[in-house]
Amino acid sequence: KEQHTHTLTETTCPQQGRGELEPNPATQGVTHYKQYPPNTSKVYSYFECREKKTDSTKDKKVKYDKTVFYGLQYILHKYLKGKVVTPEKIQEAKKVYREHFQDDVFNESGWNYILQEYDGHLPIEIKAVPEGSVIPRGNVLFTVESTDPKCYWLTNWVETILVQIWYPITVATNSREQKKILAKYLMETAGNLDGLEYKLHDFGYRGVSSQETAGIGASAHLVNFKGTDTVAGIGVIKKFYGTKDPVPGFSVPAAEHSTITAWGKDHEKDAFEHIVKQFPSVPVSIVSDSYDIYNACEKIWGEDLRSLIESRSADAPLVVRPDSGNPLDTVLKVLDILGKKFPPKENSRGYKVLPPYIRVIQGDGVDINTLQEIVEGLKQHRWSIENISFGSGGALLQKLTRDLLNCSFKCSYVVTNGQGVNVFKDPVADPNKRSKKGRLSLHRKPNGHFVTLEEGKGELEEYGEDLLHTVFRNGRIVKTYTFDEVRDNAKLKEYELEKLLN
Ligand SMILES: *[C@@H]1O[C@H](CO)[C@@H](O)[C@H](O)[C@H]1NC(C)=O
Ligand SMILES: *[C@@H]1O[C@H](CO)[C@@H](O)[C@H](O)[C@H]1NC(C)=O
Ligand SMILES: *[C@@H]1O[C@H](CO)[C@@H](O)[C@H](O)[C@H]1NC(C)=O
Ligand SMILES: *[C@@H]1O[C@H](CO)[C@@H](O)[C@H](O)[C@H]1NC(C)=O
Repeated sequence: KEQHTHTLTETTCPQQGRGELEPNPATQGVTHYKQYPPNTSKVYSYFECREKKTDSTKDKKVKYDKTVFYGLQYILHKYLKGKVVTPEKIQEAKKVYREHFQDDVFNESGWNYILQEYDGHLPIEIKAVPEGSVIPRGNVLFTVESTDPKCYWLTNWVETILVQIWYPITVATNSREQKKILAKYLMETAGNLDGLEYKLHDFGYRGVSSQETAGIGASAHLVNFKGTDTVAGIGVIKKFYGTKDPVPGFSVPAAEHSTITAWGKDHEKDAFEHIVKQFPSVPVSIVSDSYDIYNACEKIWGEDLRSLIESRSADAPLVVRPDSGNPLDTVLKVLDILGKKFPPKENSRGYKVLPPYIRVIQGDGVDINTLQEIVEGLKQHRWSIENISFGSGGALLQKLTRDLLNCSFKCSYVVTNGQGVNVFKDPVADPNKRSKKGRLSLHRKPNGHFVTLEEGKGELEEYGEDLLHTVFRNGRIVKTYTFDEVRDNAKLKEYELEKLLN
């Protein structure tokens, strides 16, 4: 039985690797097996989104106190499950690394061992919090440990691929914070949350770095919302999670500038009329700033095509889309002009609402900060946000880095010469980077707060159930979540709404 005896610092537990060539777990952390202390038989590491110890509450920026855990299942399915080690891959890696390092550092016999003993399946165990869980920063989210004493080095070999979970976590977390903003203003200006899931539409497909990014990022946004134009996310969800609905995200026909400008500058009205008539029974979004958004709202929508618009039903409204200028000013002016032509009603909260056949979507320059400014501006001008929605692209899927939530993977426990050792790092230059010690578990206290227990203390009965569940063991995925479960875990809680409204 492993005993906890003493504590070392991270010099014994080296940092992450260099040298990732391709998304293949057999290509990472290549030289570490030579660096651990002799007779190491287990390496245990964990992932967290570090919490700032020193709080600068004056900082006006969004705090991201809690993160949405999402995306591990994708990585496990796509890269880690099953027979991922093959003789061909070993030979290829051996050749590449001989050149890459100009030395024979690749542990060929280590990989052959995995091939022979495990038929190429990875002898590691991963325990994780359920997908979709909303967990305060600074808590363990998943742990990884080797299950074969000879493969102690494998734990941090898979670090690089696993830490890429920062991306779906960060997209889902940032999108959820925007949902909170929208929920708050919807409650304040409409008195209900109708349509909340359609208020922030994913416009990010073209702004991401790759097709894979599009799929992962769009699926992460769909944890919180249902509107998307990044259809790659639908494929990811169906393939790696599954939903009860045929598709987890929806959209409406929408014009783009080419479909308007192809008619020529003098024929914007004809373009609008044609497109509106093409889609009589579903909402249709029409970009209206090709030449002059204000003229388009006042003259074309408000006069020339007014009766055509008035004849549309609440299920098939015209959605006017401005796409340039200062977002808040433009939206306010558009609403003002439309409001003169299509008189608004006052809702039960005393805010103005356009008639049901016309709405506005702002999809330019929208990020979490401008979103907050726009909804606040609308509220101040007594417009309800029930009939405006938003589109967000680059800011939703691409303008994010691993630093936003300080996602990190650190070793906290090793077994050397049969003895368990709690390890951690504590860099003198940054106390925020101190890592956790020993075997970890996550618990929910009776007051609802989450707590991470270090040094194996969670094994004591008094702390109740560990919220980390084994999801992967020795090459097999042993627990999965449907996308409906993910959404349910991530939904806005009653107490969060109450807090927002105070
Ligand atoms: C490793 O284990 C062997 C066998 O138990 C022992 O002889 C040796 O001293 C150990 N090496 C170190 C550095 O502890
Ligand atoms: C998180 O990352 C940012 C940017 O690198 C850094 O300024 C901040 O100190 C980090 N916070 C923690 C808790 O590590
Ligand atoms: C290579 O991997 C094998 C099997 O995991 C391990 O037993 C061995 O110690 C490693 N080789 C070296 C030189 O560390
Ligand atoms: C406002 O939008 C909601 C949600 O999209 C819709 O159900 C409702 O009919 C609209 N109300 C008005 C008055 O346009």
